[in-house]
Amino acid sequence: MSEQTSVGPVEVELEAGKTYYWCRCGRSASQPFCDGSHKGTGIEPLAFSPDESGRAWLCVCKRTASPPYCDGSHKSG
Ligand code: FES
Repeated sequence: MSEQTSVGPVEVELEAGKTYYWCRCGRSASQPFCDGSHKGTGIEPLAFSPDESGRAWLCVCKRTASPPYCDGSHKSG
């Protein structure tokens, strides 16, 4: 994905009720989702199921206070 070097969020299309795994370690090559690269870090992905289908901006900088969603934290600091 082209956004992987960017710290800004990635816009994704989510399906209600489906389980997604959001990368919490920052190593995944398929941000914002886990690709298994966390192995050995002791960090596990965050499993979540959206209540509604639609677009969402998922955090890539991993500093959000409301994971997996972007809260604008990538802009500060
Ligand atoms: S690759 Fe980052 S949590 Fe799995």
